[in-house]
Amino acid sequence: MKVSAQAPANIAFVKYWGKYNDALTLPSNSSISMNLAELHTITTIEFSEKYRDDIVEIEFFGQRLKVVTDQKKVRVTQQIDRLRKKAKVTKRARVMLINNFPAESGIGSSASAFAALTVASCAALDLHVDRKELSILTRLGGSGSATRSILDGFVEWKKGTLSKDSYATQLAPASHWDIHDVILVVSSKSKKSSSLEGHKLAKTSPYYKARLAELPRRLVLVRQAIRDKSLSKLGIELEKDALSLHFIAMTSTPPIWYLESSTIEVIKEIYTLRNQGIEAYFTMDAGPNIHIICVAKDSSTIKAYFARKPYIETIFVSGSGKGASIIEKHLF
Ligand code: DP6
Repeated sequence: MKVSAQAPANIAFVKYWGKYNDALTLPSNSSISMNLAELHTITTIEFSEKYRDDIVEIEFFGQRLKVVTDQKKVRVTQQIDRLRKKAKVTKRARVMLINNFPAESGIGSSASAFAALTVASCAALDLHVDRKELSILTRLGGSGSATRSILDGFVEWKKGTLSKDSYATQLAPASHWDIHDVILVVSSKSKKSSSLEGHKLAKTSPYYKARLAELPRRLVLVRQAIRDKSLSKLGIELEKDALSLHFIAMTSTPPIWYLESSTIEVIKEIYTLRNQGIEAYFTMDAGPNIHIICVAKDSSTIKAYFARKPYIETIFVSGSGKGASIIEKHLF
């Protein structure tokens, strides 16, 4: 059967950084994010006797559709294998993934890709699973943040103590709060160090324990800020959390720098904007690009302000959106 699914990227307010179980992708801390309505991956998968081997085709933003044979194919086929085994199916598959935003630059492309892949595969394999189980199966694919792209709106991924307790739950639907993410792409080049490496190295930072110790309080504050729709409370915590992640990365052995000098330029500009009365807060995932969280009515002013800067490649703006879903239109 051939099935297509669409899943959003998400931006983490409290970030997942480090795992206590690599094989099962069990995170060292719970994390909270917002799904992004405008940034997504669409995936079509077909299982059929006519395929002698799995074929994986990916179209990255601004590039042509390519058949991939490298590590990307391995990651995708490992997830398909896991689901095929569960469904007791041996047929090979053709899978096509199309992204509408740059990949591997800290904008959550593997989150949308693995969520869409898992949802489409489960449906094509006739695996009847609920959202909780879908988020667990997505997590097992290795991109932990993808777990959060399954549900709608504002989502928490619980750390859990066993695989069955580490899944995503909804904190609020997308319609709850009209906030925007203005994404400033300062570099669309693929990052040199993957998040995978960053998660592994986190433990080598002498400050990692301090980060984990401060997170339970931050999680409470961020849940409250979402519930109360308080951007100032959310903003303070999300900036601290992003800096904490990057500080851990920079003080890991060997160190990892995801940030570029333009990232720092933007952060300083955001402080200037705040002094001018525009409530805008920054966060960065494992990449140099900056996500500015603001109320919806300010996003066009912020976009116009940064569009003039020479170091900006592209700007995306997105509100919160729904999680992964099956769609009618097939890619092949
Ligand atoms: C910094 O392992 O989920 O985005 O390497 O893209 O698969 P990929 O990501 P993943 O780690 C993401 C870490 C993060 C923070 C977050 O989204 O929580």
